Amino acid sequence: MNTLTLNSYAKVNLYLSVLNQRKDGYHNLKTLFERIDLADKITLKSRPDKKITLTCNIKTLPRGNANLAWQAAKLLRDKFNTGKGVDIKIIKRIPVGSGMGGGSSNAASVLMGLNKLWGLKLPKTKLSELGAKLGCDVPFFVYNTPFALGEGRGDKIKPLKGLDRVKFWHIIAVPKIKVSTPLIYKKWDEYLKTFKLTPLSRCGILHKNTCVAALTIPRYNVNILTSALSKKDLSLVSGALFNSLEQVTLKLYPLITAVKEKLIRMGVRPILMSGSGPTVFGVVSSRKEALSLSRQLKTNSSSVQVFVSRTR
Ligand code: C5P
Repeated sequence: MNTLTLNSYAKVNLYLSVLNQRKDGYHNLKTLFERIDLADKITLKSRPDKKITLTCNIKTLPRGNANLAWQAAKLLRDKFNTGKGVDIKIIKRIPVGSGMGGGSSNAASVLMGLNKLWGLKLPKTKLSELGAKLGCDVPFFVYNTPFALGEGRGDKIKPLKGLDRVKFWHIIAVPKIKVSTPLIYKKWDEYLKTFKLTPLSRCGILHKNTCVAALTIPRYNVNILTSALSKKDLSLVSGALFNSLEQVTLKLYPLITAVKEKLIRMGVRPILMSGSGPTVFGVVSSRKEALSLSRQLKTNSSSVQVFVSRTR
């Protein structure tokens, strides 16, 4: 075997609580990932020389060191002295820089694919450790599970086995804007400083004028959300979905607020932004409902890409 084709799935964060800034500049998180069936297609063809090439149907995607999939191949080749190279072909469907983890997922697919093609026999734990060097979301995809908790930088993964059989339909709206993840985390730090949020206030007792900061603190903990998901109780899910970064990103990009408001007017609930944005997703009860909403959303918004997707 010297060629392999893989689906490289996207994710949404059903819960993302930013806890604090770390000494390494990253942030400690508690997050709940859901893998969805919106996917890129990746073909890997092993080469007898040490060259790594990358081609893609999207012209603007970086082809070399700036691409996480390319970096993943280089990391494995150099660390394990494989003496081999690879031709990577990516067919992109997941919007780039959307908060759905497309680049991280591609890197995880390359790690998992080359592990097979090059016969490295590395366990998941090792692939996850290597993946974390490339990006905080990479380990989730390496675990190959529909739902998982992420702690630390989001890279310490605990698959939620109790949710293995649960599936949800989603309407996904991706405003056509670029959001910089480091900028959003920086703004989150600034808001906390501005509002002088004390350890006491993080428990719910807040200084006056704390509107944004207050909205970056969850009402429920992630265990309540996990339990609501296992029962498929959408009204409880609705109250427990949470993203610390949402208010920060919405404040900077009014288009995302407009998209959220449009979905609310269409009767979609629950709705949440994924990651640092700009993707906004709704949890709906059936494929039929998701398709009907997607038709409505597509007809009156040219500034948004619309997808219907399901837990994978
Ligand atoms: O790991 P990833 O490349 O996705 O992270 C992008 C940026 O997001 C980091 O450079 C950092 O600024 C921010 N980040 C963070 N804390 C995390 C994850 C990401 O501050 N846990």
